Amino acid sequence: MRNIGLYIHVPFCRKKCYYCDFVSYENVDDDMVFAYFSALENELIFYKENYEIEIDTVYIGGGTPSFVPAKYILKLLEFIYSNFNVKNTCEISIEANPESITKEKLKSYRKAGINRLSVGIQSLNDTELRVIGRVHDSAVALKILSVVPLYFENFSIDVITGLPYQTFESFMQTLNTLLEFSPPHLSIYSLKIEEGTPLFNRYEEYKHSFADEDEERRMFWWARDRLSEVGLYHYEISNFAKKGFECKHNLKYWNCDEYIGVGCAAHSFFDGYRYYNTSNINEYVKKIKENGLAVEGKEFISNEESEKEFIILGLRKIEGFSLDEFRERFGIEFERKYKYRIEKLKKYGLIEIDNRIKLTKRGIDLANLVWQEFI
Ligand SMILES: C[S@@+](CC[C@H](N)C(=O)[O-])C[C@H]1O[C@@H](n2cnc3c(N)ncnc32)[C@H](O)[C@@H]1O
Ligand code: SF4
Repeated sequence: MRNIGLYIHVPFCRKKCYYCDFVSYENVDDDMVFAYFSALENELIFYKENYEIEIDTVYIGGGTPSFVPAKYILKLLEFIYSNFNVKNTCEISIEANPESITKEKLKSYRKAGINRLSVGIQSLNDTELRVIGRVHDSAVALKILSVVPLYFENFSIDVITGLPYQTFESFMQTLNTLLEFSPPHLSIYSLKIEEGTPLFNRYEEYKHSFADEDEERRMFWWARDRLSEVGLYHYEISNFAKKGFECKHNLKYWNCDEYIGVGCAAHSFFDGYRYYNTSNINEYVKKIKENGLAVEGKEFISNEESEKEFIILGLRKIEGFSLDEFRERFGIEFERKYKYRIEKLKKYGLIEIDNRIKLTKRGIDLANLVWQEFI
């Protein structure tokens, strides 16, 4: 029986944030939510009938999974427990937003076996929250954060650096306040201005309000020191955790382990192939009804491709990857095959190598330059 991570995409939000290009829909009616959750069960049946798998991580992400009534999440988990082998140590995470979390939902999530909550706070500064189109303000976020630890020992908070109007001081204030809730896990993302989002379209209007790149990096490195003072160590480019609280599901992505993704726009890495589902929710529901799957693309991952992925994803981890593991997986010496690229990256101070290869601090700031060498 093979161990598998299961990702479930819940593509609903109360309102789209101005910076976000994740696949999610606002203003959907109950019938659509019902049809979507039924389709998820039908899609899962394909994997039950065709593979012997044991699920050891589940990640319910979005969109905003906490936005839908808890009964949908509970029913889906019941379906998974009764149709699959689920490891009893399984990490089961759910993403939640402040405006849609209630004590009742937290209670039912726990009862249903969810043991990790990831809360999207982004900032505790009301101006910053407003200009990125968040539904919640800092008061709502703080109220929710005082309740979350009562239900979840394992919870994570997402914040973003580089927001319009964010300053070094406002970021320090956000992070210091968040640390009062002692989160065992925290993700810090650099704002990406995604083409086609309202923030992208209004970039000219906000341009003057963005911190420059140096200032944004200063926020990040200050945060890394501050988090290490409270026992949250940096384990992936954007992620920090107390020992034992690293996200097991996300580690599967960075370790190139297999996972199945269900739902519209979900990706899978399974049997040597990468698959992705259609992103259109109506098409997803229709395709699942017609033939039980909604795969739009399927790509065989060749050995060469697999090597590249292992390098790029492995370097996202702060401890990098081991040269022995590389040899075992690919039957080749990393240092011999990539000799010239390694020399170049070392010369620019972007990587360091002993029995592992990892990014230096400069490499973390300039990770894109490192990826370019291996793409
Ligand atoms: C799947 S998203 C959404 C989760 C949840 N609905 C929320 O809004 O917090 C997960 C995280 O990605 C980050 N994110 C989304 N879009 C981003 C962007 N354009 N730039 C940087 N971070 C982004 C946010 O921190 C968000 O919490
Ligand atoms: S950031 Fe979260 S709440 Fe905002 S649109 Fe994206 S998925 Fe929805």
